[in-house]
Amino acid sequence: MLIRHPGDIRPSEITPPEVYRARRRFMQGLGALAAGTLTGVAADVQAGVKLAGVRASAYTLNEDKTPYKAVTTYNNFYEFGTGKDDPAENVGSLKTRPWTVTVEGEVGNPGAYDIDMLMKLAPLEERVYRMRCVEGWSMVIPWVGFPLREIIRRAAPTGNAKYVEFVTLADPKQMPGQRTRVLDWPYVEGLRMDEAMNPLTLLAVGLYGELLPNQNGAPIRLVVPWKYGFKSAKSIVKIRFVERQPLTAWMKATPNEYGFYSNVNPGVDHPRWSQAKERRIGEFFKRDTLMFNGYGDQVAQMYRGMDLKKHF
Ligand code: MTE
Repeated sequence: MLIRHPGDIRPSEITPPEVYRARRRFMQGLGALAAGTLTGVAADVQAGVKLAGVRASAYTLNEDKTPYKAVTTYNNFYEFGTGKDDPAENVGSLKTRPWTVTVEGEVGNPGAYDIDMLMKLAPLEERVYRMRCVEGWSMVIPWVGFPLREIIRRAAPTGNAKYVEFVTLADPKQMPGQRTRVLDWPYVEGLRMDEAMNPLTLLAVGLYGELLPNQNGAPIRLVVPWKYGFKSAKSIVKIRFVERQPLTAWMKATPNEYGFYSNVNPGVDHPRWSQAKERRIGEFFKRDTLMFNGYGDQVAQMYRGMDLKKHF
């Protein structure tokens, strides 16, 4: 997000999957040898695990899904580097079990959930969502997860809970990108309470019917399809209910470029580039970007009366 302009990205930049997989296997082999363990490989094994009991949902799209290989090799996950193929190459050091997600702040029912418990909290469903990165590329991804509101309901927010803050793991040993201060770690994101409660807002634990690969935010990440991709925080360890609007990592870094709302909006340009069009990964010609990424029917009412140029 600091580095590229949308026009710079070509489909050919995606590393061919065979090359990538072979390189990753090689790197992980080296890592495992160096550490004297097989932990680097374990992450890979987990990512391929088929999730049981995933139900279909009404959230489907009449659009081609972005191939699994592109979804898992062309990523933004600055904790593992700022290049698009850095995450897939470097995520072997992330340990996603055991993993605890704490729910805290303005709630009647705070708690610490083990990830394997959390995954059984609500039925898992598949939801095919359009995802639009602020940099100008987009994908169609079949996520597996459950609505965030399932957790919110159980947490029983108090009347003071106006926003929800999401915090990614902070551990430079597991996340080598955190050894450089490209962002003020940990990665923090946030939603207004009604946005968090919106039925579209998903906590994803998988994609393409399988456990989430580390590079896509394992073991659990947010998915907010009507907002630019950076709102969808990865590898979450904390969900905090707060009274004040959270200061997100990107607002801290460049407040004039990345606002709190960050709704997909072709009519409000990024200060350094237009947001009117996007390149669907795998396609050659650009397509028009849709207001709220095409989810206006489900979300537009939340912003009625708001100046979306001001609240960008
Ligand atoms: N979450 C964390 N913790 N760190 C990140 O760098 N990048 C964001 C978002 N979540 C990011 C993150 C951005 S810019 C995008 S576009 C999406 O993750 C990309 O998600 P994907 O790699 O699963 O497609």
